[in-house]
Amino acid sequence: VAEPDLKGRHVVVSAGGTREPLDPVRFLGNRSSGKQGYALARTAAARGARVTLVAANTGLPDPAGVDVVRIGTAVQLRDAVLKAAQDADAVVMAAAVADFRPATYAAGKIKKQDGQDPDPIVLVRNPDILAEISADRARPGQVIVGFAAETDDVLANGRKKLERKGCDLLVVNEVGESKTFGSEENEAVVLGADGSETPVPHGPKEALAETVWDLVARRLR
Ligand code: PMT
Repeated sequence: VAEPDLKGRHVVVSAGGTREPLDPVRFLGNRSSGKQGYALARTAAARGARVTLVAANTGLPDPAGVDVVRIGTAVQLRDAVLKAAQDADAVVMAAAVADFRPATYAAGKIKKQDGQDPDPIVLVRNPDILAEISADRARPGQVIVGFAAETDDVLANGRKKLERKGCDLLVVNEVGESKTFGSEENEAVVLGADGSETPVPHGPKEALAETVWDLVARRLR
């Protein structure tokens, strides 16, 4: 049985991958399944926290005792996270959020025109939710954790990302077409804004989640 070291705390976790629609049929998306975020939500609830899980396009069953808010796009995820973060002790952003979205949405299905080249897809920037909540904390002492999904120069990119985003902890994990996304396992290094580095060996996503909550609980004490 887990230590109830998050009892009385409200934590917000985001999970899954945002989808940015082009038309009623198509979207730009990513390979996140939501499993890492759901593991964070389950383990936080087991440690006594009240948990709000903001879930983007996941096909997973709601974890017991967790408030699940379902959203689709990055803009919707921002609204849901900002709202839930108002009274949160910690926010963990495990969701894979699209940095860009199509500039326009076609109300009807985009048709292919005989003999014509397709129109290019023009993108605009999405809000950076992690940077925003880190710069403008809803409560003093709120602990903010980001994830970094990297394919190369994993640690060097992670360190730069931690600085750019301004969060307290950044979980750096390597991803690929069939690496980490959708898997039951993960392996990571948790970087702290205080210069700390906590390696988490290859194992179930729950084990990484427990290490994240250990580090969060220490910062909340
Ligand atoms: O869902 P699974 O299949 O279990 O896979 C888990 C995972 C690989 C998705 C997860 O472990 C992970 O790495 N999640 C973060 C993915 C991501 O978007 O990484 P990023 O390096 O692009 O973004 C860095 C951080 O900024 C993330 O915390 C992200 O939530 C946040 N972000 C990114 C863009 C944006 N516009 N707003 C954000 O808040």
